[in-house]
Amino acid sequence: MKFVKARDYEDMSRKAANIISAQVIVKPDCVLGLATGTTPLGIYRCLVHWYERGDLDFSQTTSVNLDEYRGLEPDDPHSYHYFMRENLFRHINIDPANTHVPDGSVKDVDEACRRYDAVISGLGGVDLQLLGLGHNGHIGFNEPDGVFAKKTHLVRLADSTVEANARLFDSKEDVPTQAYTMGIQTIMHAKKILVAVSGENKAEIVEKAFLGAVTPWVPASILQLHTDVTVVGDAAAFSRIEGRI
Ligand code: F6R
Repeated sequence: MKFVKARDYEDMSRKAANIISAQVIVKPDCVLGLATGTTPLGIYRCLVHWYERGDLDFSQTTSVNLDEYRGLEPDDPHSYHYFMRENLFRHINIDPANTHVPDGSVKDVDEACRRYDAVISGLGGVDLQLLGLGHNGHIGFNEPDGVFAKKTHLVRLADSTVEANARLFDSKEDVPTQAYTMGIQTIMHAKKILVAVSGENKAEIVEKAFLGAVTPWVPASILQLHTDVTVVGDAAAFSRIEGRI
């Protein structure tokens, strides 16, 4: 694993966005694996800015997102479809037909999962996967468990995840308790992985996930076994591992 140290959130965002930029410049028709949440917002702002400046062209790029709440329509303002449209897709020249997010509105769970896996394998896998890190070590919505789930599947969100995400809803009761997520095997098959972490409240899980034991109880720990992972973090997120990386 490579650790890239950033000063603060803005610096972390620029450094991570530079890595994504390099990918798009070197391989314009790449498949980007994308994440939602608070962490990537600054990264997406940089990418939009650099696109507007004329430095980036997404016209041949395809994206696949990690996850989506079950039961939300794509135009629901709380859905990850909506998040991606508002924070990235509608500001750049990616073809909407080339953007993929699991469909949370599909009633048949097996069908929803099967369809998403077919999309990803049809694209030939992911070139660069961007990941955030949950406080409990989740990546995508792969929550701590006794096994690493392989393919796209439905998960019951951990209470701590529902609580962490409640800030984006009117109340905790409004947060869906189930979500579709890309599986660990699919994430691990990405050619390159970029993990973005920021803030003191991620310091403990950063230490556990990246310097601790590899275990499905800390899903992100499996990334230690991938051959091309870059973790970009600010000083606060790296505060407990500083000196050991
Ligand atoms: C979101 C996702 C999650 C988040 C994680 C961290 O698509 O896959 O794993 O990356 O919950 O979220 P933030 O960035 O809000 O701390």
